[in-house]
Amino acid sequence: VNVVGLIARKRDGETLAQTEIEFLINGYAEDRIPDYQMSALAMAILLRGMSAQETAHLTRAMLATGTTLEWTDVNEPIVDKHSTGGVGDKISIILSPLLACCGLRVPMISGRGLGPTGGTLDKLESIAGFRTDLSLDEIQHVIRDVGCVITGASAEIAPADKRLYALRDVTATVESIPLITASILSKKLSEGLDALVLDVKFGTGAFMQNYDQAKLLARSLVDVADSMGVKTTALLTDMNQPLGIACGNANEILESIDVLSGSGPADVRALTLRLAGELLISCKVCSEMTAAIRLAAAKIDSGEALKKFRAMVRAQGGDLDRICKPVTGHVLVANRQGYIARIDTRKLGMAIIELGGGRKQLADEVDFSVGLDMLVRVGDPITSDQQLLQVYCEQGIDQALEAMLRSAIEIGDAPVSPLKLIHETIQN
Ligand code: URA
Repeated sequence: VNVVGLIARKRDGETLAQTEIEFLINGYAEDRIPDYQMSALAMAILLRGMSAQETAHLTRAMLATGTTLEWTDVNEPIVDKHSTGGVGDKISIILSPLLACCGLRVPMISGRGLGPTGGTLDKLESIAGFRTDLSLDEIQHVIRDVGCVITGASAEIAPADKRLYALRDVTATVESIPLITASILSKKLSEGLDALVLDVKFGTGAFMQNYDQAKLLARSLVDVADSMGVKTTALLTDMNQPLGIACGNANEILESIDVLSGSGPADVRALTLRLAGELLISCKVCSEMTAAIRLAAAKIDSGEALKKFRAMVRAQGGDLDRICKPVTGHVLVANRQGYIARIDTRKLGMAIIELGGGRKQLADEVDFSVGLDMLVRVGDPITSDQQLLQVYCEQGIDQALEAMLRSAIEIGDAPVSPLKLIHETIQN
């Protein structure tokens, strides 16, 4: 098979066969196809797209370059959630132990911050000792002992994606729905899942800002995962304001513990319960959403979910009594009265990075104590001296950062409706 010929066929909008896609992905994973040819192919895919079937072949080929976890002696359903990422999105930290309490098993492979969106692994590392580099054997052990685990992708998990993602990042080929679908699912499906729920976000703080694009991505993810035998549901959720109050690392862990304790922001609790409900229905633990949400809520309100979280943290080497402390550095106060008209959530995420709470370069160290508490929401009426944001940053903030934060929160004169969080459910 001629690599140049295959690139040319995709460039000309033709459909590639399963064997051709496997040849390209295996060749890349085994170093027979160089980065420059894979870059050209990625750009051809970005410009010409792929059919649902080609995307499924691509996902399968990428998954097959690594290991898929096997759960032969585990009787409970194996499930996971993936979020396309947002600011203040700490749902995984609450949902994993909650699902384990409901009789499901959750071998969650998670990621680090990407652009303005935070990363679950970074947040968890604000707990002293917490390990996010578990081996596949260790994942198996924690699932058997505790029922849930949250760790990073080891070298055995979809190695083709690791290389291809890094290449896409520097060749302007990240924004392709077939490539994103194969990238996300080749990692998630390596967990050996029975069911998956996806939180696909749209809005100012989301990877896919545009609603229609987010919906196309959700549809592609659901179709491909279903075609590979994993019952999948996607929710389209609003990221035009942070999720909950806390945005950062340590402060998000503290807020997660609040939600696991039965308090915390209502939007975080509601979305967690709904995502849990989708999986409980997919796995036939419950037959309808009201009962599923009631079951999950009872596991939080009885204290079981928090106990499970403590057990997971302990199993991964963490000490919940030693969480990095967020230090108050500055409070941003409104300079006029009115209504919160719009929040540029992306700018808030970028401000956290600017303060050291995220990475500008891969090798940067994260300051887990840095973060923001968002004290207002879109539609809130506010007075001229009302607190808008609490900034956690030991050294305080400079004028440029204050201006950046201020410009992220638009105050208008006219009343504005509050934002709806969950917009649509996509499933087959
Ligand atoms: N997240 C991923 O894992 N892959 C993508 O391509 C985009 C977001």
